[in-house]
Amino acid sequence: MLDSKPTRSQPLTGSGSPQHEGGECNVVRHAQTPARCLDPWEAAYLRFETPEQEISKFVKRLKKMGAARWPRDAEILELFCGRGTGLHALSKLGFTRLAGADLSASLLAQYVGPAKCLVCDCRQLPFEDRRKDIVIIQGGLHHLPMLLDDLEQVLSETNRVLRDNGLIVVVEPWLTPFLSFVHVVCRSSIARRLSRKVDALATMVYYEQQTYKQWLGQPQAILSLLQKYFHADRCSFGWGKLMFAGRKKEGNLWRI
Ligand SMILES: C[S@@+](CC[C@H](N)C(=O)[O-])C[C@H]1O[C@@H](n2cnc3c(N)ncnc32)[C@H](O)[C@@H]1O
Repeated sequence: MLDSKPTRSQPLTGSGSPQHEGGECNVVRHAQTPARCLDPWEAAYLRFETPEQEISKFVKRLKKMGAARWPRDAEILELFCGRGTGLHALSKLGFTRLAGADLSASLLAQYVGPAKCLVCDCRQLPFEDRRKDIVIIQGGLHHLPMLLDDLEQVLSETNRVLRDNGLIVVVEPWLTPFLSFVHVVCRSSIARRLSRKVDALATMVYYEQQTYKQWLGQPQAILSLLQKYFHADRCSFGWGKLMFAGRKKEGNLWRI
């Protein structure tokens, strides 16, 4: 399953002024960000869980990360937001000032809701300095093609757009014993035939394997970079996930 396969990530694009994507949803495409159509990874991601299952998973997760204590008028930006189920979860929890960003126009086009969504590269955020109270990242960082440079780029951009004392929440895969077990299950053709969910996960891992392996292989360097830009309030590992919440570090940490 984990044979060589090109990564689905794309090179960093330049910046420009936002353009409307059209249609009914609140999506804007950042100029010079290429349009992308549904690829095999996206198709597997869409069949891994229904939107309803994902929304209820995210509601539970956000509560675990302290969302009950966040002011309901906080300005929240979700990076790598995909089809926007995390944004729906935030709406369900009563947050109203929401924005989302993702590189995939086709996934973002599936979001219909109040959040302002932007097709853009999260390594170069088209947002002004110190405008957001909370930035949330769920399952996006392990798609970055050039660790650790791209990760630093995303974290320094996040630090830049956060207000003083702003909060970052990161949930990403982590190589715990549970995840190693999941990988074994994904390698079983019987398990894939028996479970559509296992098959979808195995397909996603196959298409993202280059960035996924790179991500899982550098835990210490990743944690060091998170701590370079943020004071950790919470950093835990369980059920194959890193769950990190941290406050913006002051000082000019932004990369030029
Ligand atoms: C595993 S999905 C996670 C989506 C959503 N956060 C969730 O948990 O359902 C990863 C997302 O990252 C997006 N992505 C990958 N590289 C990106 C980049 N450089 N900038 C913005 N989005 C990117 C993909 O288009 C995809 O929607």
